[in-house]
Amino acid sequence: MERVLVLPGDGIGPEVTAQAVRVLEAAGRAAGIGIECVEGLIGGASIDAHGDPLTDETVALARTCRAVLLGAVGGPKWDAMPVATRPEKGLLRIRKELGLYANLRPAAVFPALASASTLRPEVVAGIDLLVVRELTGGIYFGEPRGRAIVDGRREARNTMVYDDSEIERITRVAFESARRRSRHVTHVHKANVLDVSQLWMEVVDEVAKDYDDVELVHQLVDSCAMLLLSDPKRFDVIVTGNLFGDILSDEAAMLTGSLGMLPSASLGDGGIGLYEPVHGSAPDIAGQDLANPLAAILSVAMLLEHTFDRPDAAGEVRDAVTAVLADGHRTGDIVLEGEDRETIGCVAMADHVLAKLGA
Ligand code: IPM
Ligand code: MG
Repeated sequence: MERVLVLPGDGIGPEVTAQAVRVLEAAGRAAGIGIECVEGLIGGASIDAHGDPLTDETVALARTCRAVLLGAVGGPKWDAMPVATRPEKGLLRIRKELGLYANLRPAAVFPALASASTLRPEVVAGIDLLVVRELTGGIYFGEPRGRAIVDGRREARNTMVYDDSEIERITRVAFESARRRSRHVTHVHKANVLDVSQLWMEVVDEVAKDYDDVELVHQLVDSCAMLLLSDPKRFDVIVTGNLFGDILSDEAAMLTGSLGMLPSASLGDGGIGLYEPVHGSAPDIAGQDLANPLAAILSVAMLLEHTFDRPDAAGEVRDAVTAVLADGHRTGDIVLEGEDRETIGCVAMADHVLAKLGA
């Protein structure tokens, strides 16, 4: 049996992962993969139970599994906590502990949803890009960090630091991904100001020498943010550090109409992959069967593709989602303006996907 650790987390995390697990089990059966799901706690749920956003036991459990399927972490209940003990720390820790340095965030527009974007349909139709975000380094983890009182004033600092090996390995992931796509890489940086970005430029150029079949463009992060809105179709693979990747991947996701549609995979060299929707815990709609489970379900597709090396099974899940959308089924977040449609809930949306899968 192949074990998958399910970490539902907080807010809408439990309801979307519950539906994703149904799809994972059905797709696994159809593909002849014996999948056993085990459950654990992360984020606020783990704080409430154990006083810690991620326990050593859960990390140890993850190491016995092939993959982790995660929901979302965080919520108003834990907002006042210091950064070192917040729910988000659990997510950062599991990424770091499992060495998941490569975060793949594909943003593609489903034809049925092209008019759900705030941008004109002709600008967004056909968008198909992949943000390759470095996930275990940079300013998220750099030392020194923290607060101090200096000359009676409150001061706080974080450190953006990368070494060449961290830049090289994520850059290789980006170029390898581009080879399976449209052979174009955009490296996003702030090299006109940051020493760190100058090192990225240097290392990215060195790696690019091994990929002369892939076109490389260096793009300043501010202008990239602008181009994502004015001409998003120019992008294929975007590679960048942790902080820029965090910001740009939300921007890229919204081009497609809803954050509720976007999956992600976090991979490393250790053989375990972590799969999670890009959206957050959406506490305002949690527990009401209003959440869109499709980002979590599409994360299952990425799991089938990357962990089990079954692009065929992944394709079937994606095709099922495409078909359900084409049939006009919509959760509240993807209902089009002016469209006179009934919206459906989280469970019903998953029911439709399962029906398309013949499950
Ligand atoms: C994401 C999230 C996380 C991040 C938060 C919840 C720590 O925004 O996965 O993009 O910043 O990485
Ligand atoms: Mg983010």
